[in-house]
Amino acid sequence: MTVESVKPTTSEVPELREPPLAGGRVPLLGHGWRMARDPLAFLARLRDHGDVVRLKLGPKTVYAVTAPDLTGALALSPDYIISGPLWESLESLLGKEGVATANGPLHRRQRRTIQPAFRLDAIPGYGPIMEEETHALVERWNNGEVLDATAECFRVSVRISARCLMRGSYMDARSERITSALATLFAGMYQRMVVPLGPLYRVPIPANREFNRALADLHRLVDEIVADRRASGQKPDDLLTALLEAKDENGDPIGEQEIHDQVIAILTPGSETAGSVLMSLLLVLSRHPDQVDKIRAEVKNVVGDRPVAFDDVRKLRHTANVVIETMRLYPAVWILTRRAVTDTELGGYRIPAGADIVYSPYAIQRDPRSYDRNEEFDPDRWLPDRSKEVPKYAMVPFSVGNRKCPSDHFSMAELTLITAVVANAFRFEEAPGSDPRTHIGITLRPRRLRLKVLPG
Ligand code: HEM
Repeated sequence: MTVESVKPTTSEVPELREPPLAGGRVPLLGHGWRMARDPLAFLARLRDHGDVVRLKLGPKTVYAVTAPDLTGALALSPDYIISGPLWESLESLLGKEGVATANGPLHRRQRRTIQPAFRLDAIPGYGPIMEEETHALVERWNNGEVLDATAECFRVSVRISARCLMRGSYMDARSERITSALATLFAGMYQRMVVPLGPLYRVPIPANREFNRALADLHRLVDEIVADRRASGQKPDDLLTALLEAKDENGDPIGEQEIHDQVIAILTPGSETAGSVLMSLLLVLSRHPDQVDKIRAEVKNVVGDRPVAFDDVRKLRHTANVVIETMRLYPAVWILTRRAVTDTELGGYRIPAGADIVYSPYAIQRDPRSYDRNEEFDPDRWLPDRSKEVPKYAMVPFSVGNRKCPSDHFSMAELTLITAVVANAFRFEEAPGSDPRTHIGITLRPRRLRLKVLPG
């Protein structure tokens, strides 16, 4: 008998397997207690149990996908949508009509509206604002000063997103208010998503009052921005104009609520993500002075002695690789979830309709099966010859498929520019009171970063 003769014929559909149950569950809580205690370590070890595994979170079964090729298949398949309790809590805070939580035809229409603002050829238009904000940072920071780097990183990322995507001189004052509202929201949102205590969050204790005030202020600010833009009669080529001119499937203008929710859905998670990566980048610069030297050498070589300009960014290859390697080891988006809309399969495993699926870019991007010296910070692994060795979908910080981050080019340009400019101007050292341990919230970032600015 040859090997060929035992292969199934094409008409035979192979039997689908039930994904194995991950080890380590306890009565009642299942795997929930491990997930709550140390989610990163728990998720990073799941692949030892299989490429798709079942988890018990209390009484609920959740499917975890652990192999990079299957996370790619999941992200690209139409059998899964964005849904589930975490998304519902996000909607209750930020609004129900934003692109980040919509599905189906509404989501496709919304993506068509926002996409032009993020296209590769639109990015150079943001160059002057990105340059201005970045150079303002090095003017603002003084040698010897101790920075509240957590606040500084959120501030610059909110300002860049807000000023680029909703142009207008009024944005300068308003972006400070947006920054302050978002900083409070970022701190309290994750808790409200994972511990949905509903009315208890309305009890007027100081923390709730502050959160609810910030949320109300953010919604008010967005209304003001939209009203001012309309009153100005101006239509600059930006995301806000695209939203104000957008038409629904009947050719009618989209509703006020949708415009409002879209602005919030794009600004809020986007700014937190980019700000979190920026924090990790500053921590990396403080821990790897050799990388600061390499970035400086590259800047000297590409730019010379003039200030780094936006147009230089595409030539700063090593600096970009520092950004990519930082996103590999410290992915701001550390967990993603989907729900199956039909009985389906992944890698030969049965996935029933209605199943909730999770996967972790953190686990995928630190997996020793995909990366040599997986815990080591090595930007050169992204040199063209070496990056070929990285398995497909083992590094997709902006995801793939229809939910892929629209802001990949925007964010890479912003982060590379900031990294080049600040590393060229200063060195950083952790200061007393800094707590660089990992903060696990909607995004992953250092808990509280305080950095001393040293002369370059
Ligand atoms: C979606 C990563 C910055 C806007 C996503 C997703 C990822 C991601 C992984 C997919 C989520 C999923 O599959 O469920 C990042 C990273 C960033 C970043 C790593 C920074 C380094 C931004 C910025 C903006 C933005 C600056 C906007 C100003 C969005 C939007 C979505 C999204 C609107 C939802 C897309 C959809 O559902 O169709 N991002 N992001 N992101 N991102 Fe980003």
